[in-house]
Amino acid sequence: MTRVGLLTSGGDCQALNATLRGVAKGLYNLYGDEVELFGFIDGYKGLMYEDYRKMSPVDFTGLLTRGGTILGSSRQPFKLMREPDPNGLDKVEAMKYTYRRMRLDCLVVLGGNGSQKTANLLSQEGLNVIGLPKTIDNDLWGTDNTFGFQSAVDIATDVIDCIHTTASSHNRIFIVEIMGHKTGWLTLNAGIAGGADIILIPEIPYNIDSIISKIKQRAAHGNGFTIIAVAEGAVSQEVAAMDKKERKKHLAKRKDPSVSYEIARLITEATGREVRVTVPGHMQRGGTPCPYDRVLSSRLGATAAQMIQRGEFGVMVAIKNRVVTSVPLEEVAGKLKLVDPASDVIGEARLLGISFGDD
Ligand code: F6P
Repeated sequence: MTRVGLLTSGGDCQALNATLRGVAKGLYNLYGDEVELFGFIDGYKGLMYEDYRKMSPVDFTGLLTRGGTILGSSRQPFKLMREPDPNGLDKVEAMKYTYRRMRLDCLVVLGGNGSQKTANLLSQEGLNVIGLPKTIDNDLWGTDNTFGFQSAVDIATDVIDCIHTTASSHNRIFIVEIMGHKTGWLTLNAGIAGGADIILIPEIPYNIDSIISKIKQRAAHGNGFTIIAVAEGAVSQEVAAMDKKERKKHLAKRKDPSVSYEIARLITEATGREVRVTVPGHMQRGGTPCPYDRVLSSRLGATAAQMIQRGEFGVMVAIKNRVVTSVPLEEVAGKLKLVDPASDVIGEARLLGISFGDD
């Protein structure tokens, strides 16, 4: 009998259930009755506190289109993994104990950056671990795409599309704030797809004067409205030049609720024009996975099942150049995949007249 534990960790996204289904269907088809699956509740928390349920094939039906996660999820920061819990429990030892007590052959972790770091830690501690790349941010190292990303791009693009029509009716300046604290993949893609005039991402620090002159230039050419797609982690050139400590202090003192509101205020001060801010927030992580994500999750999940059968552990399943492959967890752990400001897509966007607020 092969015994496999499953958990979904960190912020949720649309195709977690579709991926669980892919792993489960793959395993049931490969092993028949010779496999048992266990779902840990609320991510690593379930593994720490032995909170799990035995799953059966029926648990994995109807999941392809269902958002969220049937297992629940929680954030268990990697940086606190080596610190005991409030009752003095050693979290890493507790997770290893649960794994061994349940006589698991493998633990499958559906998670983003922090979760893959913990997956790597557990792998280095001797557990058989396979990671699956989840996040709407698409910032996991070693994979071209993460599941959840494309669904979030669709939602953020829909938001920009809706804003576009009302912005043009009223000749207004609109800011749409898109998720992504550290990377701008989602903002870049939704911004291009939604025809944003200005796109601000953390990887390309902006200059407020450049944003204002783009708005004025558009107005001079008869375009009364301007759409600005802003990643929640976008930073000005002044802030980008600060060291980490200074930057933290500066951001803590910010009087506006977010970078978008700060930019809106500065534009109004400089132009006298009204600026509206729209924040779709967690909507971007919710609802049904798009067809692309359903296919990606199914492929990644099925491949994870094959890897379990082959005994290929200590890896994250990945997609590179449309081929499903794997990458060692130790290569993934702690690295962010950033948008390269010199990449083709940025150059092409500039050629279309999109400003990144840095000219
Ligand atoms: O990591 C995914 C993500 O959606 C980020 O883009 C966002 O900043 C963050 O999670 C917010 O998540 P939460 O509110 O759950 O902490």
